Amino acid sequence: MKVGIIVYSQSGHTATFARTIADHLREAGIDYGIELLRPRGIPKPWTRNIEFRRIPEIDEYDIVLVGSPVWGFNASKVILKYLNSMKSLKGKKALPFVTYGLPLKSLGVNRSLKRMNAELEELCADVLEGESQYYFLFKTNKNKMNEAAKRIVERIKR
Ligand SMILES: Cc1cc2nc3c(=O)[nH]c(=O)nc-3n(C[C@H](O)[C@H](O)[C@H](O)COP(=O)(O)O)c2cc1C
Repeated sequence: MKVGIIVYSQSGHTATFARTIADHLREAGIDYGIELLRPRGIPKPWTRNIEFRRIPEIDEYDIVLVGSPVWGFNASKVILKYLNSMKSLKGKKALPFVTYGLPLKSLGVNRSLKRMNAELEELCADVLEGESQYYFLFKTNKNKMNEAAKRIVERIKR
């Protein structure tokens, strides 16, 4: 089994969450790869005109974890564009994860995960429950991040 972590991160939080998930996968003896999505230029949160330098190849992965920041009460346009460009995930499991900065999950987290779930389902993936991690003023709770990463690994192993 190989897990692919595909992540978009503008200020580094979601990438840190992705690396923490990777640490837990490694501890559990699960093979993985991390792919950082790199759009051309710095995408404005509202722009739909996003082009990627390279679209990650995901054929080798059995499980795909897709990470994004919450932007404007929803998943970032960048990850939505990426999900729109993906080919079928039939036969694969998938799980979304997000980071966010406003104190309530009702301010974008729930909607982001729901939207990413819907996109992954549309791609015929077997979708697992997602996770979120709160960042306040560029700081986060490492214990909570480790707990979330552990839950992800447990769901993957089931
Ligand atoms: C343009 C923009 C819009 C944002 N909108 C929201 C939002 O609606 N809800 C929220 O909880 N956080 C919001 N945030 C905070 C980010 O989700 C949070 O800082 C996230 O951890 C950034 O991830 P990154 O460092 O991987 O880019 C927003 C941040 C930016 C830059």
